[in-house]
Amino acid sequence: MRKNLALLLLIVFSSPALREAAPRRQRTLREAADRIGILVGAAVDPRHFSEPDYAGTLAREFNMVEPENAMKWALTEPAPGQFDFDPGDAVVSFAEARQMKVRGHNLLWYEHNPKWLESGQFTPAELHGVMQRHITTVAGHYAGHVFAWDVVNEAFDSSGVLRHSIWFDQPGIGLADKGTAYIEQAFRWAHEADPKALLFYNDYAAEGINAKSDAIYAMVKDFKQRGVPIDGVGLQMHLSLGDVDKLSSLDANISRLAALGLQVQITELDVGLPITSDGQPRDPADTQRQADLYALVARTCVTSPACTAFQTWGFADKYSWIPGFTHGARGAGLPFDTQYQPKPAFEGVLNAFRSANRRSNPTR
Ligand code: G3I
Repeated sequence: MRKNLALLLLIVFSSPALREAAPRRQRTLREAADRIGILVGAAVDPRHFSEPDYAGTLAREFNMVEPENAMKWALTEPAPGQFDFDPGDAVVSFAEARQMKVRGHNLLWYEHNPKWLESGQFTPAELHGVMQRHITTVAGHYAGHVFAWDVVNEAFDSSGVLRHSIWFDQPGIGLADKGTAYIEQAFRWAHEADPKALLFYNDYAAEGINAKSDAIYAMVKDFKQRGVPIDGVGLQMHLSLGDVDKLSSLDANISRLAALGLQVQITELDVGLPITSDGQPRDPADTQRQADLYALVARTCVTSPACTAFQTWGFADKYSWIPGFTHGARGAGLPFDTQYQPKPAFEGVLNAFRSANRRSNPTR
């Protein structure tokens, strides 16, 4: 009897047809994402690439990276007209050696600009030239290496009104009375510099349907109707556990953007938890609540063909902007812990990818 059972098992597991019918379960986010044709990414800091666990976890789990800061204006153009591509190039080299895509972040923002720009006195005509030179030079330098750009980052406030900024109206590039025209101009210059790159507008707190996402929707609808080169919207997703209600309209928001022919990418997901002074969640049960939120976002993304990338802001709790930004009140927001061990949030995302039934091709 036992012999027969052993024989039966041998036949079953050596049959190629049956092996194919029961494929090996994917154990990494990267394997699971590759199977369903979605990009899974993390924001990275090239200063950590020399740390074996940092580099190893990244290459094993992700098929995309995005520089957390290395391609921002303060680093890429520290002096007027003088460009430094070393940090950004390090991200590109790391990724290309490991067959990972690079998402560029960002060409225009009101924050993290160099001192010469923030405190300089410019006329609109001068600023117009400064902005054109920067976008043209940076997008041109990375053409063929960066497949998608956050062209403009965080241009709206929470009530959906355009933020005051050096580019818009302080003093602006000469389009201060024309609403989103300065944003349109940025997209046009980015497209001219790299016609093959996918171009995104990226913002936070605009995941569900609200005043801000309505304003973004109105802008991108107008851009699509008038042929302004835009390919998608980045939903940042810096979340807290209390944000679960806001996510009830995430699907509807993705659907209305998709109906315009746009891609949606989850660009900066993290779920900050209240933490103790040694960085551990105050309530251990929060780790599972966090996993549930990660799984919800991942499931919503993979069930919409328009959602082409799922990215976290960092990937291990060892390095995250949240504790510094909240003066130690919050943290532990990522899917791997400070020792690069997977957390329940990792399992939540992996399971969402494994059970997804889709195949899409997000990249140009
Ligand atoms: O690297 C320098 C270091 O040499 C210097 O000693 C130190 C002194 O302040 O500053 C360090 O630079 C800091 C940099 O992070 C790297 O740690 C900057 O001051 C600091 O402003 C910068 O913060 C970044 C922030 O954007 C502003 O650019 C965060 O790392 C980054 O996570 C955060 O990312 C943003 C996205 O770009 C847009 N969406 C929101 C997201 C979170 O705020």
